[in-house]
Amino acid sequence: MASTQGAHNILVASNRGPVTYEVQEDGSLRARRGGGGLVSGLSAIGPDAGALWVCSALGDGDREAVRRGIAEDGVRMLDIDADVHADAYNGIANSVLWFVHHMLYQTPLEPVFDAEFRRQWASYEAYNRAFAEALAAEAARGAVVIVQDYHLTLVPGMLRERRPDLRIGHFSHTPWAPVDYFRMLPDDIAEQVLRGMLGADRLGFLTQRWADAFTACCDALVGGLGDTRIGVHGLGADADFLRRRSHEADVADRMAALREQIGEGRRTIVRVDRTELSKNIVRGLLAYRQLLEDHPEWRERVVHVAFAYPSRQDLAVYRDYTAEVQRVATEINSQYGTPGWTPVVLHVKDDFARSLAAYRLADVALVNPIRDGMNLVAKEVPVVSDEGCVLVLSREAGAYEELGEDAVVVNPYDVVGTARALDAALTMPVGERAERTKRLAAAGTALPPAQWFLEQLRELEG
Ligand code: G6P
Repeated sequence: MASTQGAHNILVASNRGPVTYEVQEDGSLRARRGGGGLVSGLSAIGPDAGALWVCSALGDGDREAVRRGIAEDGVRMLDIDADVHADAYNGIANSVLWFVHHMLYQTPLEPVFDAEFRRQWASYEAYNRAFAEALAAEAARGAVVIVQDYHLTLVPGMLRERRPDLRIGHFSHTPWAPVDYFRMLPDDIAEQVLRGMLGADRLGFLTQRWADAFTACCDALVGGLGDTRIGVHGLGADADFLRRRSHEADVADRMAALREQIGEGRRTIVRVDRTELSKNIVRGLLAYRQLLEDHPEWRERVVHVAFAYPSRQDLAVYRDYTAEVQRVATEINSQYGTPGWTPVVLHVKDDFARSLAAYRLADVALVNPIRDGMNLVAKEVPVVSDEGCVLVLSREAGAYEELGEDAVVVNPYDVVGTARALDAALTMPVGERAERTKRLAAAGTALPPAQWFLEQLRELEG
Protein backbone atom coordinates (compact mmCIF):
# COMPACT_ATOMS: atom_id res chain seq x y z
CA MET A 1 0.00 0.00 0.00
CA ALA A 2 1.65 3.26 -1.06
CA SER A 3 1.56 6.18 1.28
CA THR A 4 3.17 9.56 1.65
CA GLN A 5 5.99 9.91 4.11
CA GLY A 6 6.43 12.22 7.05
CA ALA A 7 9.48 13.76 8.63
CA HIS A 8 9.86 12.01 11.99
CA ASN A 9 12.58 9.45 12.70
CA ILE A 10 11.45 8.30 16.11
CA LEU A 11 7.78 7.93 16.99
CA VAL A 12 5.97 6.68 20.05
CA ALA A 13 2.27 5.99 20.26
CA SER A 14 0.17 5.65 23.39
CA ASN A 15 -3.39 6.26 24.47
CA ARG A 16 -2.45 8.77 27.18
CA GLY A 17 -0.01 11.44 26.03
CA PRO A 18 2.42 13.68 27.91
CA VAL A 19 0.07 16.64 28.13
CA THR A 20 -3.62 17.27 28.66
CA TYR A 21 -5.64 20.47 28.31
CA GLU A 22 -8.29 21.90 30.57
CA VAL A 23 -10.83 24.50 29.50
CA GLN A 24 -10.63 27.46 31.90
CA GLU A 25 -13.59 29.60 32.95
CA ASP A 26 -12.56 32.34 30.50
CA GLY A 27 -12.51 29.78 27.67
CA SER A 28 -8.72 29.59 27.44
CA LEU A 29 -6.91 26.27 27.60
CA ARG A 30 -4.46 25.33 30.30
CA ALA A 31 -1.89 22.61 29.59
CA ARG A 32 -0.97 20.10 32.28
CA ARG A 33 2.12 18.00 31.74
CA GLY A 34 2.36 14.47 33.07
CA GLY A 35 5.38 12.44 34.14
CA GLY A 36 6.25 8.78 33.76
CA GLY A 37 8.80 6.60 32.05
CA LEU A 38 8.09 7.63 28.47
CA VAL A 39 8.35 11.35 29.24
CA SER A 40 11.82 10.90 30.76
CA GLY A 41 12.76 8.43 28.06
CA LEU A 42 11.98 10.83 25.26
CA SER A 43 13.67 13.75 27.00
CA ALA A 44 16.84 11.62 27.01
CA ILE A 45 17.08 11.73 23.20
CA GLY A 46 16.70 15.51 23.18
CA PRO A 47 14.46 17.89 21.23
CA ASP A 48 16.59 17.70 18.05
CA ALA A 49 16.03 14.00 17.49
CA GLY A 50 12.87 14.71 15.49
CA ALA A 51 10.71 12.57 17.74
CA LEU A 52 6.93 12.61 17.64
CA TRP A 53 4.53 11.34 20.30
CA VAL A 54 1.15 10.34 18.91
CA CYS A 55 -1.62 10.05 21.52
CA SER A 56 -5.39 10.42 21.87
CA ALA A 57 -7.28 13.53 22.80
CA LEU A 58 -8.84 12.37 26.08
CA GLY A 59 -11.35 14.96 27.15
CA ASP A 60 -13.13 18.15 26.12
CA GLY A 61 -10.01 20.24 26.73
CA ASP A 62 -7.85 18.03 24.53
CA ARG A 63 -10.46 17.98 21.77
CA GLU A 64 -10.75 21.73 21.92
CA ALA A 65 -6.97 22.04 21.66
CA VAL A 66 -6.97 19.90 18.51
CA ARG A 67 -9.79 22.00 17.04
CA ARG A 68 -7.93 25.23 17.78
CA GLY A 69 -4.71 23.81 16.37
CA ILE A 70 -2.91 24.10 19.72
CA ALA A 71 -0.16 21.52 20.11
CA GLU A 72 3.05 20.99 22.04
CA ASP A 73 6.19 20.52 20.00
CA GLY A 74 6.66 16.87 19.24
CA VAL A 75 3.14 15.84 20.23
CA ARG A 76 0.26 14.99 17.93
CA MET A 77 -3.10 14.37 19.53
CA LEU A 78 -5.67 12.38 17.58
CA ASP A 79 -9.23 13.61 17.90
CA ILE A 80 -10.90 10.24 17.54
CA ASP A 81 -14.71 10.27 17.72
CA ALA A 82 -15.63 10.35 21.44
CA ASP A 83 -17.97 7.34 21.24
CA VAL A 84 -15.43 5.28 19.34
CA HIS A 85 -12.80 6.21 21.90
CA ALA A 86 -15.09 5.35 24.83
CA ASP A 87 -15.85 1.90 23.36
CA ALA A 88 -12.18 1.22 22.65
CA TYR A 89 -10.77 2.60 25.92
CA ASN A 90 -13.46 1.85 28.53
CA GLY A 91 -15.13 -1.05 26.75
CA ILE A 92 -12.32 -3.10 25.25
CA ALA A 93 -8.98 -1.89 26.64
CA ASN A 94 -9.93 -1.38 30.29
CA SER A 95 -12.86 -3.78 30.68
CA VAL A 96 -11.61 -6.67 28.58
CA LEU A 97 -7.86 -6.65 27.82
CA TRP A 98 -6.87 -5.18 31.20
CA PHE A 99 -9.15 -7.73 32.92
CA VAL A 100 -7.69 -10.61 30.93
CA HIS A 101 -4.04 -9.74 31.61
CA HIS A 102 -4.67 -9.03 35.30
CA MET A 103 -7.00 -12.04 35.61
CA LEU A 104 -9.71 -9.89 37.19
CA TYR A 105 -12.87 -11.58 35.97
CA GLN A 106 -15.24 -13.19 38.44
CA THR A 107 -15.52 -16.13 36.08
CA PRO A 108 -18.93 -17.62 37.00
CA LEU A 109 -20.51 -14.40 35.70
CA GLU A 110 -17.92 -12.76 33.50
CA PRO A 111 -16.80 -12.38 30.80
CA VAL A 112 -19.74 -12.56 28.41
CA PHE A 113 -18.58 -11.91 24.86
CA ASP A 114 -21.88 -10.92 23.29
CA ALA A 115 -23.00 -8.74 20.37
CA GLU A 116 -22.27 -5.60 22.39
CA PHE A 117 -18.69 -6.77 22.84
CA ARG A 118 -18.40 -7.28 19.05
CA ARG A 119 -19.73 -3.77 18.46
CA GLN A 120 -17.13 -2.35 20.86
CA TRP A 121 -14.44 -4.44 19.24
CA ALA A 122 -15.18 -2.73 15.93
CA SER A 123 -14.48 0.58 17.69
CA TYR A 124 -11.23 -0.80 19.07
CA GLU A 125 -10.23 -1.67 15.51
CA ALA A 126 -11.18 1.79 14.27
CA TYR A 127 -9.27 3.43 17.10
CA ASN A 128 -6.16 1.34 16.37
CA ARG A 129 -6.54 2.13 12.66
CA ALA A 130 -6.58 5.86 13.38
CA PHE A 131 -3.23 5.50 15.16
CA ALA A 132 -1.77 3.36 12.38
CA GLU A 133 -2.82 5.92 9.77
CA ALA A 134 -1.38 8.86 11.71
CA LEU A 135 1.90 7.03 12.33
CA ALA A 136 2.12 5.98 8.68
CA ALA A 137 1.65 9.60 7.62
CA GLU A 138 4.16 11.07 10.11
CA ALA A 139 7.03 8.57 9.91
CA ALA A 140 10.07 9.21 7.71
CA ARG A 141 11.44 6.37 5.59
CA GLY A 142 12.99 3.70 7.82
CA ALA A 143 11.84 5.43 11.04
CA VAL A 144 11.54 3.64 14.36
CA VAL A 145 8.07 3.46 15.93
CA ILE A 146 7.44 2.19 19.47
CA VAL A 147 3.80 1.49 20.25
CA GLN A 148 2.71 1.30 23.90
CA ASP A 149 0.44 -1.08 25.69
CA TYR A 150 -2.82 -3.02 25.45
CA HIS A 151 -4.81 -0.12 24.01
CA LEU A 152 -2.88 -0.42 20.76
CA THR A 153 -2.27 -4.14 20.14
CA LEU A 154 -3.48 -4.01 16.53
CA VAL A 155 -1.32 -1.05 15.51
CA PRO A 156 1.91 -2.94 14.72
CA GLY A 157 0.19 -5.18 12.15
CA MET A 158 -1.85 -2.33 10.65
CA LEU A 159 1.23 -0.14 10.39
CA ARG A 160 3.37 -2.90 8.88
CA GLU A 161 0.77 -3.24 6.06
CA ARG A 162 0.92 0.47 5.35
CA ARG A 163 4.64 1.02 5.86
CA PRO A 164 6.82 -2.09 5.48
CA ASP A 165 9.92 0.14 5.60
CA LEU A 166 9.45 1.06 9.27
CA ARG A 167 11.07 -0.60 12.28
CA ILE A 168 8.21 -1.29 14.61
CA GLY A 169 8.33 -2.07 18.31
CA HIS A 170 5.60 -2.58 20.88
CA PHE A 171 5.98 -2.43 24.64
CA SER A 172 3.54 -3.95 27.16
CA HIS A 173 3.32 -2.20 30.54
CA THR A 174 0.95 -4.85 31.88
CA PRO A 175 1.36 -8.52 32.71
CA TRP A 176 0.49 -10.98 29.95
CA ALA A 177 -2.19 -13.56 30.69
CA PRO A 178 -1.43 -17.28 30.91
CA VAL A 179 -2.68 -19.11 27.84
CA ASP A 180 -5.63 -20.82 29.59
CA TYR A 181 -6.89 -17.44 30.71
CA PHE A 182 -6.07 -15.57 27.49
CA ARG A 183 -8.09 -17.99 25.39
CA MET A 184 -11.27 -16.97 27.16
CA LEU A 185 -11.25 -14.33 24.41
CA PRO A 186 -13.16 -15.48 21.33
CA ASP A 187 -10.74 -17.37 19.09
CA ASP A 188 -10.80 -14.88 16.24
CA ILE A 189 -10.22 -11.95 18.62
CA ALA A 190 -7.39 -13.69 20.49
CA GLU A 191 -5.77 -14.43 17.16
CA GLN A 192 -6.24 -10.87 15.95
CA VAL A 193 -4.54 -9.49 19.09
CA LEU A 194 -1.56 -11.83 18.77
CA ARG A 195 -1.18 -11.28 15.03
CA GLY A 196 -1.52 -7.53 15.53
CA MET A 197 1.32 -7.55 18.03
CA LEU A 198 3.41 -9.89 15.83
CA GLY A 199 3.30 -7.21 13.14
CA ALA A 200 6.14 -5.66 15.19
CA ASP A 201 9.82 -6.43 14.67
CA ARG A 202 10.31 -6.59 18.39
CA LEU A 203 8.04 -6.83 21.41
CA GLY A 204 9.10 -5.59 24.83
CA PHE A 205 7.85 -6.79 28.22
CA LEU A 206 8.61 -5.76 31.79
CA THR A 207 9.62 -9.21 33.02
CA GLN A 208 10.59 -12.61 31.65
CA ARG A 209 7.40 -14.02 33.16
CA TRP A 210 5.17 -11.84 30.99
CA ALA A 211 7.34 -12.43 27.92
CA ASP A 212 7.09 -16.19 28.43
CA ALA A 213 3.31 -15.99 28.82
CA PHE A 214 3.06 -14.10 25.52
CA THR A 215 5.28 -16.66 23.78
CA ALA A 216 3.14 -19.48 25.18
CA CYS A 217 -0.01 -17.82 23.81
CA CYS A 218 1.59 -17.49 20.38
CA ASP A 219 2.77 -21.11 20.42
CA ALA A 220 -0.69 -22.36 21.37
CA LEU A 221 -2.86 -20.11 19.23
CA VAL A 222 -1.00 -18.83 16.15
CA GLY A 223 1.84 -21.32 15.60
CA GLY A 224 4.63 -19.36 17.28
CA LEU A 225 6.34 -15.97 17.14
CA GLY A 226 7.44 -16.07 13.50
CA ASP A 227 10.17 -13.47 12.87
CA THR A 228 9.23 -11.22 15.78
CA ARG A 229 11.87 -10.87 18.50
CA ILE A 230 11.05 -10.58 22.19
CA GLY A 231 12.94 -8.52 24.78
CA VAL A 232 12.65 -7.80 28.48
CA HIS A 233 13.23 -4.29 29.81
CA GLY A 234 12.47 -3.93 33.50
CA LEU A 235 11.64 -0.26 33.79
CA GLY A 236 13.19 1.17 36.97
CA ALA A 237 12.71 4.26 39.08
CA ASP A 238 14.41 7.56 38.24
CA ALA A 239 16.73 8.01 41.25
CA ASP A 240 18.04 11.49 40.38
CA PHE A 241 14.60 12.92 39.82
CA LEU A 242 13.10 11.31 42.93
CA ARG A 243 15.91 12.37 45.26
CA ARG A 244 15.72 15.95 44.05
CA ARG A 245 11.93 16.21 43.95
CA SER A 246 11.42 14.62 47.36
CA HIS A 247 13.53 17.34 49.00
CA GLU A 248 11.57 20.28 47.68
CA ALA A 249 9.69 22.55 50.07
CA ASP A 250 6.18 21.32 49.25
CA VAL A 251 7.17 17.77 50.22
CA ALA A 252 8.50 19.02 53.57
CA ASP A 253 5.17 20.78 54.15
CA ARG A 254 3.27 17.57 53.40
CA MET A 255 5.53 15.64 55.78
CA ALA A 256 4.70 18.02 58.59
CA ALA A 257 0.97 17.66 57.91
CA LEU A 258 1.20 13.87 57.75
CA ARG A 259 3.21 13.69 60.99
CA GLU A 260 0.41 15.62 62.61
CA GLN A 261 -2.17 13.10 61.38
CA ILE A 262 -0.07 10.09 62.34
CA GLY A 263 0.80 11.28 65.82
CA GLU A 264 3.96 11.25 67.88
CA GLY A 265 6.15 8.13 67.96
CA ARG A 266 3.98 5.85 65.84
CA ARG A 267 5.07 3.44 63.10
CA THR A 268 3.72 4.00 59.62
CA ILE A 269 2.59 1.47 57.02
CA VAL A 270 2.26 3.31 53.71
CA ARG A 271 0.61 2.38 50.45
CA VAL A 272 0.21 4.57 47.35
CA ASP A 273 -1.87 3.38 44.40
CA ARG A 274 -4.37 4.32 41.81
CA THR A 275 -7.69 2.97 43.07
CA GLU A 276 -7.28 0.04 40.76
CA LEU A 277 -8.87 -3.39 41.13
CA SER A 278 -5.56 -5.16 40.58
CA LYS A 279 -3.84 -3.23 43.40
CA ASN A 280 -5.68 -5.22 46.07
CA ILE A 281 -6.28 -2.28 48.40
CA VAL A 282 -9.22 -3.86 50.21
CA ARG A 283 -7.32 -7.04 51.14
CA GLY A 284 -4.48 -4.77 52.28
CA LEU A 285 -6.88 -3.06 54.68
CA LEU A 286 -8.22 -6.41 55.85
CA ALA A 287 -4.66 -7.57 56.54
CA TYR A 288 -4.03 -4.43 58.57
CA ARG A 289 -7.21 -5.09 60.55
CA GLN A 290 -6.00 -8.66 61.14
CA LEU A 291 -2.70 -7.28 62.41
CA LEU A 292 -4.54 -5.12 64.96
CA GLU A 293 -6.66 -8.11 65.92
CA ASP A 294 -3.80 -10.60 66.31
CA HIS A 295 -1.28 -8.15 67.77
CA PRO A 296 -3.02 -5.85 70.24
CA GLU A 297 0.42 -4.49 71.11
CA TRP A 298 0.35 -2.54 67.83
CA ARG A 299 -2.89 -0.72 68.65
CA GLU A 300 -2.24 2.99 69.15
CA ARG A 301 1.35 2.41 67.97
CA VAL A 302 0.90 2.10 64.21
CA VAL A 303 -0.98 4.00 61.49
CA HIS A 304 -1.83 2.76 58.01
CA VAL A 305 -1.42 5.68 55.61
CA ALA A 306 -3.27 4.66 52.46
CA PHE A 307 -3.36 6.86 49.35
CA ALA A 308 -5.84 5.56 46.80
CA TYR A 309 -6.12 7.96 43.90
CA PRO A 310 -9.20 7.90 41.64
CA SER A 311 -8.83 5.94 38.44
CA ARG A 312 -11.09 5.01 35.50
CA GLN A 313 -14.16 6.39 37.23
CA ASP A 314 -16.25 5.97 34.05
CA LEU A 315 -16.41 2.28 34.91
CA ALA A 316 -18.95 1.18 37.53
CA VAL A 317 -16.68 -1.55 38.95
CA TYR A 318 -14.00 1.06 39.68
CA ARG A 319 -16.52 3.36 41.35
CA ASP A 320 -17.81 0.45 43.45
CA TYR A 321 -14.26 -0.53 44.38
CA THR A 322 -13.46 3.04 45.42
CA ALA A 323 -16.52 3.03 47.67
CA GLU A 324 -15.52 -0.34 49.15
CA VAL A 325 -12.03 0.95 49.99
CA GLN A 326 -13.58 3.89 51.81
CA ARG A 327 -16.13 1.71 53.57
CA VAL A 328 -13.55 -0.74 54.93
CA ALA A 329 -11.22 2.06 56.05
CA THR A 330 -14.07 3.76 57.91
CA GLU A 331 -15.09 0.46 59.48
CA ILE A 332 -11.57 -0.18 60.81
CA ASN A 333 -11.42 3.34 62.23
CA SER A 334 -14.72 2.97 64.04
CA GLN A 335 -13.85 -0.51 65.30
CA TYR A 336 -10.38 0.26 66.66
CA GLY A 337 -9.94 4.04 66.69
CA THR A 338 -9.52 5.93 69.95
CA PRO A 339 -9.82 9.66 70.66
CA GLY A 340 -6.08 10.14 70.06
CA TRP A 341 -5.51 7.53 67.33
CA THR A 342 -6.90 7.09 63.81
CA PRO A 343 -5.75 3.63 62.65
CA VAL A 344 -6.23 4.30 58.90
CA VAL A 345 -5.45 7.64 57.29
CA LEU A 346 -6.97 7.41 53.82
CA HIS A 347 -6.42 10.11 51.20
CA VAL A 348 -8.06 9.96 47.79
CA LYS A 349 -7.02 13.25 46.21
CA ASP A 350 -4.04 12.76 43.93
CA ASP A 351 -1.06 14.70 45.26
CA PHE A 352 2.43 13.68 44.13
CA ALA A 353 4.23 15.80 46.75
CA ARG A 354 2.22 14.09 49.49
CA SER A 355 3.03 10.66 48.03
CA LEU A 356 6.73 11.49 48.24
CA ALA A 357 6.27 12.75 51.79
CA ALA A 358 4.68 9.41 52.73
CA TYR A 359 7.54 7.52 51.04
CA ARG A 360 10.03 9.44 53.16
CA LEU A 361 8.17 8.74 56.39
CA ALA A 362 7.28 5.11 55.79
CA ASP A 363 8.50 2.35 58.10
CA VAL A 364 6.77 -0.23 55.93
CA ALA A 365 5.56 0.03 52.34
CA LEU A 366 2.70 -2.29 51.42
CA VAL A 367 2.68 -3.28 47.73
CA ASN A 368 0.33 -6.26 47.48
CA PRO A 369 -1.23 -6.30 43.97
CA ILE A 370 -2.98 -9.44 42.86
CA ARG A 371 -1.15 -8.96 39.55
CA ASP A 372 0.91 -6.04 38.27
CA GLY A 373 3.12 -5.47 35.23
CA MET A 374 5.90 -3.99 37.36
CA ASN A 375 4.79 -1.62 40.17
CA LEU A 376 7.03 1.40 40.41
CA VAL A 377 5.98 2.35 43.95
CA ALA A 378 7.96 -0.69 45.14
CA LYS A 379 11.02 0.73 43.39
CA GLU A 380 10.50 4.36 44.35
CA VAL A 381 10.03 4.07 48.12
CA PRO A 382 13.49 2.61 48.89
CA VAL A 383 15.15 5.44 46.93
CA VAL A 384 13.37 8.17 48.83
CA SER A 385 13.02 6.62 52.29
CA ASP A 386 14.72 8.68 55.00
CA GLU A 387 15.45 5.98 57.53
CA GLY A 388 15.01 2.75 55.63
CA CYS A 389 11.69 1.13 54.90
CA VAL A 390 10.67 -2.53 54.79
CA LEU A 391 8.97 -3.50 51.55
CA VAL A 392 6.08 -5.96 51.87
CA LEU A 393 5.75 -7.12 48.29
CA SER A 394 3.33 -9.37 46.42
CA ARG A 395 4.95 -12.22 44.55
CA GLU A 396 2.53 -11.41 41.70
CA ALA A 397 4.05 -7.98 40.99
CA GLY A 398 6.57 -7.78 38.16
CA ALA A 399 8.90 -5.99 40.59
CA TYR A 400 9.13 -9.25 42.57
CA GLU A 401 11.58 -10.64 39.99
CA GLU A 402 14.09 -7.90 40.83
CA LEU A 403 13.22 -7.08 44.46
CA GLY A 404 11.94 -10.37 45.87
CA GLU A 405 15.12 -11.26 47.77
CA ASP A 406 15.13 -8.15 49.94
CA ALA A 407 11.39 -7.74 50.40
CA VAL A 408 9.02 -9.52 52.78
CA VAL A 409 7.07 -11.46 50.18
CA VAL A 410 3.34 -12.16 50.35
CA ASN A 411 0.68 -14.13 48.53
CA PRO A 412 -1.73 -11.25 47.85
CA TYR A 413 -4.86 -13.35 48.48
CA ASP A 414 -3.66 -14.48 51.90
CA VAL A 415 -4.92 -11.86 54.33
CA VAL A 416 -3.64 -13.67 57.44
CA GLY A 417 -0.27 -14.22 55.77
CA THR A 418 -0.11 -10.54 54.83
CA ALA A 419 -0.92 -9.57 58.44
CA ARG A 420 1.99 -11.75 59.59
CA ALA A 421 4.24 -10.13 56.99
CA LEU A 422 3.26 -6.68 58.28
CA ASP A 423 4.17 -7.73 61.80
CA ALA A 424 7.51 -9.16 60.60
CA ALA A 425 8.16 -5.91 58.73
CA LEU A 426 7.34 -3.75 61.76
CA THR A 427 9.63 -5.76 64.00
CA MET A 428 12.59 -6.06 61.63
CA PRO A 429 15.80 -4.81 63.31
CA VAL A 430 16.79 -1.32 62.09
CA GLY A 431 20.19 -2.48 60.83
CA GLU A 432 18.71 -5.18 58.62
CA ARG A 433 16.01 -2.84 57.40
CA ALA A 434 18.63 -0.24 56.37
CA GLU A 435 20.74 -2.82 54.55
CA ARG A 436 17.76 -4.19 52.66
CA THR A 437 16.57 -0.71 51.73
CA LYS A 438 19.97 0.07 50.23
CA ARG A 439 19.93 -3.07 48.10
CA LEU A 440 16.30 -2.46 47.06
CA ALA A 441 17.14 1.08 46.00
CA ALA A 442 20.06 -0.17 43.89
CA ALA A 443 18.02 -2.93 42.24
CA GLY A 444 15.01 -0.68 41.68
CA THR A 445 17.02 2.01 39.88
CA ALA A 446 19.19 -0.29 37.75
CA LEU A 447 17.33 0.64 34.56
CA PRO A 448 16.14 4.26 34.79
CA PRO A 449 13.53 5.44 32.28
CA ALA A 450 16.03 7.11 29.95
CA GLN A 451 18.09 3.95 29.58
CA TRP A 452 14.98 1.81 29.40
CA PHE A 453 13.89 3.79 26.36
CA LEU A 454 17.33 4.00 24.73
CA GLU A 455 17.81 0.24 25.10
CA GLN A 456 14.66 -0.44 23.10
CA LEU A 457 15.56 2.16 20.53
CA ARG A 458 19.02 0.64 20.00
CA GLU A 459 17.56 -2.84 19.65
CA LEU A 460 15.18 -1.63 16.96
CA GLU A 461 17.76 0.45 15.12
CA GLY A 462 20.36 -2.33 15.26
C1 G6P B 1 -1.32 1.43 33.45
C2 G6P B 1 -1.23 1.27 31.96
C3 G6P B 1 -1.02 2.62 31.29
C4 G6P B 1 -2.07 3.59 31.76
C5 G6P B 1 -2.03 3.71 33.27
C6 G6P B 1 -3.08 4.66 33.83
O1 G6P B 1 -0.08 1.75 33.97
O2 G6P B 1 -0.22 0.36 31.61
O3 G6P B 1 -1.09 2.46 29.88
O4 G6P B 1 -1.88 4.84 31.17
O5 G6P B 1 -2.26 2.43 33.82
O6 G6P B 1 -4.37 4.29 33.42
P1 G6P B 1 -5.31 5.25 32.56
O7 G6P B 1 -6.45 4.39 32.15
O8 G6P B 1 -5.70 6.33 33.50
O9 G6P B 1 -4.50 5.77 31.42
